[in-house]
Amino acid sequence: MSKPKVVVTRRWPSAVEAKLKELYDVTLNESDVPLTAEELKRALQTADALLPTVTDPITADILRVPDRKARIIGNFGVGYNNIDIAAAKEQGLVVTNTPGVLTDCTADIAMLLLLMSARRASEGDRLVRSGQWTGWGPTHLLGQKVTGKTLGLIGFGRIAQATAKRAHHGFGMRILFYTPRNVPSQEILDDVKAIRCATIEELLGEADFVSLHCPGSAENRHLIDEARLKRMHPNAHLINTARGDVVDNQALCKALKERWIAGAGLDVYEGEPNVYPGFLELDNVALLPHLGSASEETRAAMGKRVLENIEMFFAGQEPRDRVA
Ligand code: DGY
Repeated sequence: MSKPKVVVTRRWPSAVEAKLKELYDVTLNESDVPLTAEELKRALQTADALLPTVTDPITADILRVPDRKARIIGNFGVGYNNIDIAAAKEQGLVVTNTPGVLTDCTADIAMLLLLMSARRASEGDRLVRSGQWTGWGPTHLLGQKVTGKTLGLIGFGRIAQATAKRAHHGFGMRILFYTPRNVPSQEILDDVKAIRCATIEELLGEADFVSLHCPGSAENRHLIDEARLKRMHPNAHLINTARGDVVDNQALCKALKERWIAGAGLDVYEGEPNVYPGFLELDNVALLPHLGSASEETRAAMGKRVLENIEMFFAGQEPRDRVA
Protein backbone atom coordinates (compact mmCIF):
# COMPACT_ATOMS: atom_id res chain seq x y z
CA MET A 1 0.00 0.00 0.00
CA SER A 2 1.37 3.42 -0.86
CA LYS A 3 2.22 5.79 1.98
CA PRO A 4 -0.10 8.76 2.64
CA LYS A 5 1.24 12.04 1.25
CA VAL A 6 1.89 14.83 3.75
CA VAL A 7 3.02 18.41 3.19
CA VAL A 8 5.04 20.03 6.00
CA THR A 9 5.06 23.81 5.74
CA ARG A 10 8.23 24.56 7.78
CA ARG A 11 11.37 22.69 8.84
CA TRP A 12 10.94 20.48 11.93
CA PRO A 13 13.63 19.22 14.33
CA SER A 14 15.64 16.60 12.43
CA ALA A 15 14.63 13.58 14.56
CA VAL A 16 10.92 14.10 13.92
CA GLU A 17 11.50 14.95 10.25
CA ALA A 18 13.28 11.60 9.91
CA LYS A 19 10.39 9.76 11.58
CA LEU A 20 7.92 11.54 9.33
CA LYS A 21 9.88 10.48 6.23
CA GLU A 22 9.94 6.89 7.46
CA LEU A 23 6.15 6.76 7.71
CA TYR A 24 4.92 9.06 4.95
CA ASP A 25 5.53 10.35 1.47
CA VAL A 26 6.70 13.79 2.64
CA THR A 27 6.93 17.07 0.79
CA LEU A 28 8.99 19.31 3.03
CA ASN A 29 9.37 23.06 2.58
CA GLU A 30 13.18 23.01 2.70
CA SER A 31 13.34 26.83 2.38
CA ASP A 32 11.59 27.24 5.80
CA VAL A 33 9.99 30.43 4.43
CA PRO A 34 6.21 30.40 5.08
CA LEU A 35 4.26 29.11 2.08
CA THR A 36 2.01 31.45 0.10
CA ALA A 37 -1.77 31.05 0.05
CA GLU A 38 -1.50 29.51 -3.42
CA GLU A 39 1.11 27.01 -2.22
CA LEU A 40 -1.09 26.09 0.77
CA LYS A 41 -4.07 25.53 -1.54
CA ARG A 42 -1.94 23.34 -3.80
CA ALA A 43 -0.82 21.36 -0.74
CA LEU A 44 -4.45 20.70 0.19
CA GLN A 45 -5.12 19.52 -3.35
CA THR A 46 -2.15 17.16 -3.59
CA ALA A 47 -1.58 15.75 -0.07
CA ASP A 48 -3.60 13.60 2.31
CA ALA A 49 -2.51 15.71 5.28
CA LEU A 50 -1.31 19.28 5.65
CA LEU A 51 1.01 19.93 8.61
CA PRO A 52 1.15 23.69 9.07
CA THR A 53 2.33 25.73 12.00
CA VAL A 54 1.27 28.89 13.79
CA THR A 55 2.88 31.07 11.08
CA ASP A 56 0.55 29.71 8.37
CA PRO A 57 -2.82 31.47 8.13
CA ILE A 58 -5.16 28.71 6.97
CA THR A 59 -8.08 30.90 5.92
CA ALA A 60 -11.58 29.98 4.77
CA ASP A 61 -10.52 30.84 1.21
CA ILE A 62 -7.66 28.33 1.41
CA LEU A 63 -9.84 25.68 3.04
CA ARG A 64 -12.53 26.04 0.35
CA VAL A 65 -10.09 25.26 -2.46
CA PRO A 66 -11.80 23.07 -5.11
CA ASP A 67 -10.70 19.45 -5.60
CA ARG A 68 -9.23 19.20 -2.14
CA LYS A 69 -7.57 15.88 -1.35
CA ALA A 70 -6.41 16.47 2.23
CA ARG A 71 -8.66 15.25 5.03
CA ILE A 72 -6.65 16.30 8.06
CA ILE A 73 -4.66 19.34 9.19
CA GLY A 74 -2.18 18.53 11.95
CA ASN A 75 -1.16 21.91 13.37
CA PHE A 76 2.35 22.09 14.85
CA GLY A 77 1.35 24.22 17.86
CA VAL A 78 -1.08 24.29 20.73
CA GLY A 79 -2.69 27.54 19.56
CA TYR A 80 -4.76 27.08 16.40
CA ASN A 81 -6.02 30.61 15.84
CA ASN A 82 -4.09 30.49 12.54
CA ILE A 83 -6.79 28.13 11.23
CA ASP A 84 -10.36 29.14 10.46
CA ILE A 85 -11.93 26.37 12.52
CA ALA A 86 -15.51 27.14 11.44
CA ALA A 87 -14.50 26.82 7.77
CA ALA A 88 -12.57 23.61 8.50
CA LYS A 89 -15.68 22.12 10.14
CA GLU A 90 -17.84 23.29 7.24
CA GLN A 91 -15.43 21.49 4.88
CA GLY A 92 -15.47 18.32 7.01
CA LEU A 93 -11.73 18.61 7.68
CA VAL A 94 -10.23 17.17 10.85
CA VAL A 95 -7.89 19.56 12.71
CA THR A 96 -5.53 18.64 15.56
CA ASN A 97 -3.11 20.61 17.79
CA THR A 98 -0.29 19.77 20.25
CA PRO A 99 -1.48 20.47 23.82
CA GLY A 100 0.46 19.63 26.98
CA VAL A 101 3.93 19.19 25.52
CA LEU A 102 4.87 22.88 25.51
CA THR A 103 3.34 23.83 28.85
CA ASP A 104 6.55 23.93 30.92
CA CYS A 105 8.66 25.72 28.34
CA THR A 106 6.04 28.42 27.80
CA ALA A 107 5.58 28.90 31.55
CA ASP A 108 9.37 29.27 31.81
CA ILE A 109 9.27 32.07 29.22
CA ALA A 110 6.42 33.79 31.09
CA MET A 111 8.55 33.75 34.26
CA LEU A 112 11.63 34.86 32.30
CA LEU A 113 9.77 37.87 30.91
CA LEU A 114 8.30 38.65 34.33
CA LEU A 115 11.79 38.70 35.84
CA MET A 116 13.30 40.58 32.90
CA SER A 117 10.65 43.27 33.13
CA ALA A 118 10.70 43.55 36.93
CA ARG A 119 14.50 43.67 37.14
CA ARG A 120 15.12 45.71 33.99
CA ALA A 121 17.29 42.96 32.50
CA SER A 122 17.04 44.10 28.86
CA GLU A 123 18.14 47.60 29.83
CA GLY A 124 21.04 46.20 31.81
CA ASP A 125 22.12 43.96 28.93
CA ARG A 126 22.02 46.88 26.49
CA LEU A 127 24.01 49.06 28.87
CA VAL A 128 26.81 46.53 29.27
CA ARG A 129 26.99 45.95 25.50
CA SER A 130 27.07 49.69 24.82
CA GLY A 131 30.33 50.08 26.74
CA GLN A 132 28.71 52.95 28.69
CA TRP A 133 28.42 51.15 32.04
CA THR A 134 30.35 53.09 34.64
CA GLY A 135 30.03 50.59 37.49
CA TRP A 136 27.76 49.58 40.36
CA GLY A 137 25.70 52.38 41.93
CA PRO A 138 23.31 52.42 44.91
CA THR A 139 20.49 53.89 42.83
CA HIS A 140 21.41 52.44 39.48
CA LEU A 141 18.82 50.54 37.34
CA LEU A 142 16.54 49.78 40.26
CA GLY A 143 13.67 47.53 39.36
CA GLN A 144 11.00 45.88 41.46
CA LYS A 145 11.31 42.91 43.79
CA VAL A 146 9.39 39.85 42.62
CA THR A 147 9.32 37.63 45.73
CA GLY A 148 6.08 37.90 47.67
CA LYS A 149 4.30 40.02 45.07
CA THR A 150 0.89 39.31 43.52
CA LEU A 151 0.62 37.62 40.13
CA GLY A 152 -2.69 37.87 38.26
CA LEU A 153 -3.26 35.28 35.54
CA ILE A 154 -5.84 35.90 32.84
CA GLY A 155 -6.87 32.47 31.59
CA PHE A 156 -6.17 29.52 33.88
CA GLY A 157 -5.39 26.60 31.60
CA ARG A 158 -2.30 24.39 31.61
CA ILE A 159 0.29 27.11 30.90
CA ALA A 160 -1.20 29.54 33.42
CA GLN A 161 -1.23 26.81 36.08
CA ALA A 162 2.41 25.92 35.36
CA THR A 163 3.30 29.62 35.62
CA ALA A 164 1.40 29.83 38.92
CA LYS A 165 3.38 26.88 40.31
CA ARG A 166 6.70 28.52 39.42
CA ALA A 167 5.62 31.87 40.82
CA HIS A 168 4.09 30.52 44.02
CA HIS A 169 6.55 27.77 44.93
CA GLY A 170 9.66 29.49 43.55
CA PHE A 171 8.98 33.13 44.42
CA GLY A 172 6.36 33.00 47.15
CA MET A 173 3.93 34.95 44.98
CA ARG A 174 0.26 35.33 45.75
CA ILE A 175 -1.80 33.98 42.86
CA LEU A 176 -4.97 35.53 41.48
CA PHE A 177 -6.70 34.31 38.35
CA TYR A 178 -9.58 35.16 36.09
CA THR A 179 -11.20 32.70 33.71
CA PRO A 180 -14.63 32.70 32.08
CA ARG A 181 -14.30 28.90 31.85
CA ASN A 182 -14.92 26.20 34.45
CA VAL A 183 -12.98 26.40 37.70
CA PRO A 184 -10.00 24.02 37.70
CA SER A 185 -9.81 21.23 40.26
CA GLN A 186 -9.59 22.11 43.97
CA GLU A 187 -6.26 20.29 44.13
CA ILE A 188 -4.70 22.76 41.66
CA LEU A 189 -6.23 25.76 43.43
CA ASP A 190 -4.98 24.54 46.83
CA ASP A 191 -1.49 23.81 45.50
CA VAL A 192 -0.84 27.45 44.61
CA LYS A 193 -3.47 28.96 46.95
CA ALA A 194 -5.09 30.53 43.89
CA ILE A 195 -7.86 33.06 44.38
CA ARG A 196 -10.40 33.51 41.64
CA CYS A 197 -11.35 37.08 40.63
CA ALA A 198 -14.88 37.68 39.45
CA THR A 199 -13.80 40.18 36.81
CA ILE A 200 -10.69 41.13 34.87
CA GLU A 201 -10.95 44.61 36.37
CA GLU A 202 -10.76 43.21 39.91
CA LEU A 203 -7.59 41.27 38.99
CA LEU A 204 -5.98 44.27 37.25
CA GLY A 205 -6.63 46.44 40.28
CA GLU A 206 -4.77 44.05 42.62
CA ALA A 207 -1.95 42.45 40.66
CA ASP A 208 1.68 43.58 40.59
CA PHE A 209 2.22 41.35 37.55
CA VAL A 210 -0.44 40.39 35.02
CA SER A 211 0.30 37.42 32.78
CA LEU A 212 -1.93 36.55 29.82
CA HIS A 213 -2.81 32.93 29.08
CA CYS A 214 -6.02 33.05 27.09
CA PRO A 215 -6.37 31.77 23.53
CA GLY A 216 -6.15 34.05 20.51
CA SER A 217 -9.67 34.47 19.16
CA ALA A 218 -12.03 37.12 17.81
CA GLU A 219 -13.56 37.22 21.28
CA ASN A 220 -10.22 37.88 23.02
CA ARG A 221 -8.93 40.45 20.50
CA HIS A 222 -7.86 43.56 22.47
CA LEU A 223 -9.06 42.04 25.71
CA ILE A 224 -6.42 44.28 27.25
CA ASP A 225 -7.22 47.69 25.85
CA GLU A 226 -6.56 51.26 26.94
CA ALA A 227 -9.30 51.26 29.58
CA ARG A 228 -8.00 48.05 31.16
CA LEU A 229 -4.37 49.18 31.05
CA LYS A 230 -5.49 52.23 33.03
CA ARG A 231 -6.85 49.89 35.73
CA MET A 232 -3.36 48.51 36.41
CA HIS A 233 -1.03 49.89 39.09
CA PRO A 234 1.72 52.31 38.02
CA ASN A 235 4.25 49.77 39.37
CA ALA A 236 2.65 46.81 37.58
CA HIS A 237 4.01 44.79 34.65
CA LEU A 238 2.13 43.07 31.83
CA ILE A 239 3.44 39.77 30.45
CA ASN A 240 2.16 38.29 27.19
CA THR A 241 3.11 34.80 26.03
CA ALA A 242 -0.37 34.05 24.63
CA ARG A 243 -1.18 35.82 21.36
CA GLY A 244 -0.23 39.34 20.29
CA ASP A 245 -3.70 40.58 19.49
CA VAL A 246 -5.03 39.82 22.98
CA VAL A 247 -3.44 43.20 23.77
CA ASP A 248 -4.06 46.45 21.89
CA ASN A 249 -0.36 46.98 21.09
CA GLN A 250 -0.76 50.67 20.31
CA ALA A 251 -2.50 51.28 23.65
CA LEU A 252 0.17 49.26 25.48
CA CYS A 253 2.90 51.35 23.89
CA LYS A 254 1.15 54.51 25.12
CA ALA A 255 0.74 53.00 28.59
CA LEU A 256 4.46 52.20 28.77
CA LYS A 257 5.56 55.54 27.36
CA GLU A 258 3.31 57.54 29.68
CA ARG A 259 4.12 55.22 32.60
CA TRP A 260 0.56 54.16 33.42
CA ILE A 261 2.37 50.87 34.09
CA ALA A 262 6.02 50.17 34.93
CA GLY A 263 6.90 47.65 32.26
CA ALA A 264 5.96 44.80 29.98
CA GLY A 265 7.45 41.55 28.75
CA LEU A 266 6.27 40.39 25.34
CA ASP A 267 6.86 37.17 23.43
CA VAL A 268 4.03 37.70 20.92
CA TYR A 269 2.85 40.65 18.83
CA GLU A 270 -0.09 41.87 16.79
CA GLY A 271 0.70 41.16 13.14
CA GLU A 272 3.79 39.08 13.97
CA PRO A 273 6.62 39.11 12.85
CA ASN A 274 5.98 42.87 12.66
CA VAL A 275 6.47 44.57 15.99
CA TYR A 276 4.67 47.81 16.85
CA PRO A 277 7.48 50.32 16.09
CA GLY A 278 6.95 52.35 19.28
CA PHE A 279 8.06 49.36 21.42
CA LEU A 280 11.52 49.49 19.87
CA GLU A 281 12.10 52.96 21.28
CA LEU A 282 11.11 52.08 24.85
CA ASP A 283 13.40 50.89 27.62
CA ASN A 284 10.62 49.48 29.78
CA VAL A 285 9.56 46.63 27.53
CA ALA A 286 11.40 43.30 27.20
CA LEU A 287 10.92 41.83 23.72
CA LEU A 288 11.36 38.19 22.71
CA PRO A 289 10.71 36.67 19.25
CA HIS A 290 7.92 34.16 20.09
CA LEU A 291 10.15 31.73 21.98
CA GLY A 292 7.52 30.16 24.26
CA SER A 293 7.97 26.60 22.99
CA ALA A 294 11.46 27.09 21.56
CA SER A 295 13.50 24.35 23.23
CA GLU A 296 14.92 21.38 21.35
CA GLU A 297 13.03 18.91 23.52
CA THR A 298 9.72 20.71 23.24
CA ARG A 299 9.80 21.26 19.49
CA ALA A 300 10.65 17.56 19.03
CA ALA A 301 7.77 16.63 21.34
CA MET A 302 5.43 18.86 19.33
CA GLY A 303 6.42 17.12 16.11
CA LYS A 304 5.94 13.73 17.77
CA ARG A 305 2.48 14.79 18.88
CA VAL A 306 1.51 15.86 15.35
CA LEU A 307 2.71 12.46 14.15
CA GLU A 308 0.67 10.62 16.77
CA ASN A 309 -2.43 12.52 15.71
CA ILE A 310 -2.09 11.82 12.01
CA GLU A 311 -1.09 8.20 12.64
CA MET A 312 -4.31 7.71 14.61
CA PHE A 313 -6.30 9.40 11.85
CA PHE A 314 -4.82 7.25 9.08
CA ALA A 315 -5.43 4.15 11.24
CA GLY A 316 -9.13 5.07 11.30
CA GLN A 317 -9.10 6.18 14.96
CA GLU A 318 -10.13 9.46 16.57
CA PRO A 319 -6.95 11.61 16.87
CA ARG A 320 -6.23 12.38 20.53
CA ASP A 321 -5.98 16.17 20.05
CA ARG A 322 -8.84 16.82 17.70
CA VAL A 323 -10.09 20.43 17.76
CA ALA A 324 -12.32 20.21 14.66
C1 DGY B 1 1.84 27.55 20.10
O1 DGY B 1 2.11 26.36 20.03
O2 DGY B 1 0.69 27.95 20.06
C2 DGY B 1 2.97 28.50 20.29
O3 DGY B 1 2.58 29.81 20.22
C3 DGY B 1 4.09 28.22 19.32
O4 DGY B 1 4.72 27.12 19.79
